Amino acid sequence: MKVNIFCCLLACTLGSNVTAGLTHEGVKEGTQVTVRCPHSVEGGVRWSRESGGSRADILTADGDKTKKHINDPQKRYNSQADGSLFILRAAPSDSGRYFCNHEAAVELTVIPSGTTIVSVAERSSITLNCSHNVGGSAVPTWRRDSGEINEGRISVSTEDTTLRIREAEPADSGLYYCDGEPAAYLNVTKGQRSDRELPRISLLTGMILTGMVLTGMVLTGMVLPER
Ligand SMILES: *[C@@H]1O[C@H](CO)[C@@H](O)[C@H](O)[C@H]1NC(C)=O
Ligand SMILES: *[C@@H]1O[C@H](CO)[C@@H](O)[C@H](O)[C@H]1NC(C)=O
Repeated sequence: MKVNIFCCLLACTLGSNVTAGLTHEGVKEGTQVTVRCPHSVEGGVRWSRESGGSRADILTADGDKTKKHINDPQKRYNSQADGSLFILRAAPSDSGRYFCNHEAAVELTVIPSGTTIVSVAERSSITLNCSHNVGGSAVPTWRRDSGEINEGRISVSTEDTTLRIREAEPADSGLYYCDGEPAAYLNVTKGQRSDRELPRISLLTGMILTGMVLTGMVLTGMVLPER
């Protein structure tokens, strides 16, 4: 009994920490994509997508029954036995934040064909160039497909048509637009350090929280110490 409670609490605590850092995934237009649920699903699954500030259901699946909630004449969306969402011939309009049973699963960017892909390691500096001519001496407007452009580490040059990013983070990944046209897809890959540190911190937090909750339960008489 005690052991079960402990495991459950530990698993819940670890699970919520994992979702704190949502994965960015960039895929090329026309490829097939599989989006997995953050946790294994039992029973039905509902997939939805958030883009441009609104969220819409894509499909619900239960056993071998699948119901589409969007218009899908080319049958590009399907669910798989383990609850994953399968997208055939991904299009830039498939970009957005995907939710499995209301839980964020991935931030997906479908990279328009012909877009430059720039891959750098975490904490490096990078300069993105406008791929097209910008009119006159005007400073181009930069924006990103998802998330903000962090003013502190990211600066727009007033001399040329570039965007500079210092100390790049995986969360900076995404499609960057210069004056409304895709300039580059930035792929910032995780280094060794954060990969090692994160699980250790979550494990410690989980154990401390579990300990506090168990102590509380014993004190309030919910769990009687074994004689
Ligand atoms: C981003 O970089 C990782 C690691 O190098 C690679 O596996 C992945 O395919 C890259 N993504 C894109 C869109 O190029
Ligand atoms: C942008 O242009 C500069 C100067 O031409 C070059 O050094 C740099 O590598 C370019 N950046 C990318 C991401 O292609």
